[in-house]
Amino acid sequence: MSITKKEILDLLGSIQIPSDNKTLIHSDVLKDVSINGSVVELKLSIKNPTLQFRKKIELQVTQAIQKTSSKNTVKIDFVIQEKQVSGNQKPHQAMNGIKNIIAIASGKGGVGKSTVSSNLATALSIIGKKVGLIDADIYGPSMPLMFDVEKEKPVVSNINGKSLIEPIVSYGVKILSIGFFSNPSDAIVWRGPMASKALNQMIHQANWGDLDYLIIDLPPGTGDIHLTLVQSIPLTGAIIVTTPQPISLIDAKKAAAMFNMKNINVPIIGMVENMSWFSPEDNPKKKYYIFGKDGGKNLSKDLNIPLLYRFPLLESVRESSDVGRPATLQKNKNAEMFLKFAEKVTEKTNERNKNISKTKRVKITHTKGCS
Ligand SMILES: Nc1ncnc2c1ncn2[C@@H]1O[C@H](COP(=O)(O)OP(=O)(O)OP(=O)(O)O)[C@@H](O)[C@H]1O
Ligand SMILES: [Mg+2]
Repeated sequence: MSITKKEILDLLGSIQIPSDNKTLIHSDVLKDVSINGSVVELKLSIKNPTLQFRKKIELQVTQAIQKTSSKNTVKIDFVIQEKQVSGNQKPHQAMNGIKNIIAIASGKGGVGKSTVSSNLATALSIIGKKVGLIDADIYGPSMPLMFDVEKEKPVVSNINGKSLIEPIVSYGVKILSIGFFSNPSDAIVWRGPMASKALNQMIHQANWGDLDYLIIDLPPGTGDIHLTLVQSIPLTGAIIVTTPQPISLIDAKKAAAMFNMKNINVPIIGMVENMSWFSPEDNPKKKYYIFGKDGGKNLSKDLNIPLLYRFPLLESVRESSDVGRPATLQKNKNAEMFLKFAEKVTEKTNERNKNISKTKRVKITHTKGCS
């Protein structure tokens, strides 16, 4: 016989939430219980957003329910509780309606900024965040291709008397790219001021609505677009992408130095080592360190920046970008890898917001880039 609702509630009442004095039946936590055929469906509101925590709860609930009725399976929809804000303290907001703005930078070209940006945005959306993505690469916008929206053209809406560009939505991510405003077959030769104007429009004259994360995929280098960005918005932080190759590390160091400049002062949330090794599909245990070994890991230690993730060079990651479906959407280990990475980014962003005050917009009258 299938389990009854009463039995489920009794079982949930016996499961203690780790590091909390509540059980799963507490009204702050249990938001819904239903039985759909043999599937027990629960909606739980939790404070700890980590995958490890959710897996632990899922395992405890499944074991408890299957002890009573082995025929039942369990499906849990986790909702992450917003932190309670006390007194006159306001929740961290980078910009009106946008909680966190994160720039993905590298220094050297072709190291995987766009691959990391597209998969991070998709993974954050999968774990329940509201996500926007700006492709600020004036030299070679990649998001229209990576999200299979090359033929889309954003429309302009009138919202409360303001004309705002509507981002294109793909796989749950709101996207704007310089590529939407130009013909893909035209070479895009933007002069600095034109590119800066386009970036400013994508940031300030778009209907982003409420977002948990706005991810900005930057072009390589440390030039005009980077300076426009830090002058246009208070970035929550930057993530630096590098391969383990010495030439990439030198440029990653320059990018880090730019964000650390006294008058820029954008916190670096972490570093990503991409293309860390190659493992052939027919011999996945073998690792070939094509671009050198541990370069990004060592640089992150030297610069005292957390190493967020090391992504191997995988044919399927490249393929999925080329067919316009981020690897995070695949049903394999790649997806797990990007979801773990997204969890790490949320964890480090929350730490940053707790420990460092809001970044100030940079006011620069005459500045040179540092490339
Ligand atoms: N981990 C990976 N495994 C396999 N291929 C990858 C990986 N990361 C990136 N690539 C591939 O490497 C190429 C460069 O990646 P990507 O476009 O993300 O780099 P980028 O830093 O954004 O480049 P640019 O500086 O030109 O903007 C792409 O073809 C991408 O599919
Ligand atoms: Mg790119």
